[in-house]
Amino acid sequence: MSQESPFSKEVVEFEQASPDVLPDDPNRRFWLGTACAVGGVAGVATVIPFVASMSPSERAKAAGAPVQVDISAVAPGQMITAEWQGKPVWILRRTPEMLATLPKLNDDLADPMSERPGFTPEFAQNEHRSINPEWMVMVGICTHLGCSPSSRFAAGTSQGMGANWLGGYLCPCHGSVFDFAGRVFKNMPAPDNLPVPPYYFIDDSNILIGMDSPA
Ligand code: FES
Repeated sequence: MSQESPFSKEVVEFEQASPDVLPDDPNRRFWLGTACAVGGVAGVATVIPFVASMSPSERAKAAGAPVQVDISAVAPGQMITAEWQGKPVWILRRTPEMLATLPKLNDDLADPMSERPGFTPEFAQNEHRSINPEWMVMVGICTHLGCSPSSRFAAGTSQGMGANWLGGYLCPCHGSVFDFAGRVFKNMPAPDNLPVPPYYFIDDSNILIGMDSPA
């Protein structure tokens, strides 16, 4: 990238923000962040299981169970959000243009190949951090203090980023910035890339989140 920062003044101001901007209740914080992330570009996925009639013990078991997500209606450039283990899991169908931004950013990222031991599944220790480059699956929770980043998919300044911004995500709490693979830029409050959950493709239209291969 060129020498001009891809980040806006807004990001610097976010970095200087007090932690007390975070809601005290972590659940509220989670859903506030999720709502922010969903706006404009994302939908909520239909997942299995979501069964209101379950007993408390069945619900507890289901809360940790793998979830199947139908991705057949996700258009290129769109992102949906599923819930797995109480966390938002983003499924982004990347366009060729989005994928083309990734190699341009490697020198600006804290861990471009996700080599930190024990953090990213082996199948995602690559530039695109996924099984299939077109599909990015990641937990939408910032590795700093747990806010949910917001999408900033448009390149350039139209979403308050800098002129060299290529698209990705901004965590509104303290200004951490991530690319389309959830890779965090250098010198951000967030110490790591966004987590990648275990998952695999059941077929061309369905992903199972929570397991990395059939049982
Ligand atoms: S929670 Fe602090 S930058 Fe994301």
